[in-house]
Amino acid sequence: MRTVQSISILSILGYVALTACGGGEAGSSLPPGASSTTSNEATGGAANADLITAADISLGEIDQGMVEQGRTTYDVKCQACHSTGPNRVVGPGWKGIMERRKPEWIMNMILNIDAMLESDPEAQKGLEECLVRMPNQGLSKDEGREVLEYMRTL
Ligand code: HEC
Repeated sequence: MRTVQSISILSILGYVALTACGGGEAGSSLPPGASSTTSNEATGGAANADLITAADISLGEIDQGMVEQGRTTYDVKCQACHSTGPNRVVGPGWKGIMERRKPEWIMNMILNIDAMLESDPEAQKGLEECLVRMPNQGLSKDEGREVLEYMRTL
């Protein structure tokens, strides 16, 4: 009896790891205005009473003061893992994030990461792709909101 080793070698060669983390790939993005398929649309999928909902956030004119505060927080607490361009560092790059993600989803990733990783499919997918848990950076709600304002400029 012969084992056909070449076949298994070929299948290994043919295996392409599709583990791009965040960024532009179609699967991980929500087009603007698209509705979530999960039951609790307001939080981007996670059904947790403490999560921020769309009603908690209003986006008016971009507030430059908040942008600057957000940028400072980014420099200190986020830059190690996130670029403001399209490229992944440890976590996804932030360029265009406001087009891919809902504001309340972003805020919950910043402020309530543990609840998100427990129940939100997109957050879980990000973990699978990046292989690193986004740590809770202990931001206040205001600090999170300032980072969101900064993201609006990216
Ligand atoms: C130790 C590395 C690390 C640090 C520091 C970090 N993050 Fe993350 N972040 C990640 C990883 C990894 C992911 C992807 C995990 C996931 O989606 O579950 C992520 C995902 C995110 C996402 C979702 C991005 C997307 O498009 O899916 C947001 C928003 C985010 N982080 C914000 C922040 C903010 C704001 C800070 C600073 C206050 C920060 N992160 C600090 C590692 C980090």
